[in-house]
Amino acid sequence: MASCEPCHIANESQSHFEYDPTADSLMTHWTLDDIPWDRFEAEKVDPRILRVAKAASLVELNGGDYADYLCSVFCGDPGIQRLARDWAQEEVQHGRALGRWACLADPDFDLESAFARFTDGYRLDVEASQSVRGSRAGELVARCIVEVGTSSFYAALGEASEEPVFVEVCRRIAADELRHYRMFYKALKQYLEREKIGRLRRILVALGRIFESEDDELAYAHFAANADAEESYERQRHADFMLGVTYSHYQRKHVDRVVAMSLKAAGLDPQAAWAPWASRLAYHLVRHRGAKTAQALAT
Ligand SMILES: [Fe+2]
Ligand SMILES: [Fe+2]
Repeated sequence: MASCEPCHIANESQSHFEYDPTADSLMTHWTLDDIPWDRFEAEKVDPRILRVAKAASLVELNGGDYADYLCSVFCGDPGIQRLARDWAQEEVQHGRALGRWACLADPDFDLESAFARFTDGYRLDVEASQSVRGSRAGELVARCIVEVGTSSFYAALGEASEEPVFVEVCRRIAADELRHYRMFYKALKQYLEREKIGRLRRILVALGRIFESEDDELAYAHFAANADAEESYERQRHADFMLGVTYSHYQRKHVDRVVAMSLKAAGLDPQAAWAPWASRLAYHLVRHRGAKTAQALAT
């Protein structure tokens, strides 16, 4: 993992975000030793969920690269940089927990070589001097969207599974992701006092990040974790599997939460009269995507 050297964090007065690791509770609350691995029941593993969990472990393990990217984007703001480093530790632990579970479910799964395959083909620009979202506040909006998305992802998969260890792993990770959302939202509020990016810009960033879930990262992680060595990468097929299987397990309550918290990050009122309609539409789209994939997989 690269350091924050180029930005040097010596000047505390440059920080726009006051991060207190103790008060803000972002330090890891659990370790892999807290997971009851001996309660694993192989016959209760859903093979489709296993494929998705393997892919998710690779994305989570890449948290260090995301921290490097955030440190570059928030150059000169030691508060956010420290938050990014602590946050990445938790994300990497998520990857380790999911990877260990996947190895129990499939002893042939080689986490380290799958991760090497993933990072060989998917690279972040960790030295970006500016956020791909156009502003630092925009970057924080996007992070909020990712965190509420991942929290619902693990909640949906965990509740759909009957394997007790996976249920426990997902429960802990989903709770962590919600804390991450709160932390990035807190940072966003402080940044918005300085960067007036406007509601429309926030909405566009939020929508953009939601639709990015169809992009390369998840699809390539699914390929790296599951494809045979001689298989070539077909983005659409792997995206279909990754998102379709996941969406088919989403319940209305998961979508309601994603919509409400995404609206909040975008600067909109989750209690507005039209908000339930947005949630209904989102649920319809998610179910449609899940059904379309089920059809594609069947053929
Ligand atoms: Fe995570
Ligand atoms: Fe997270």
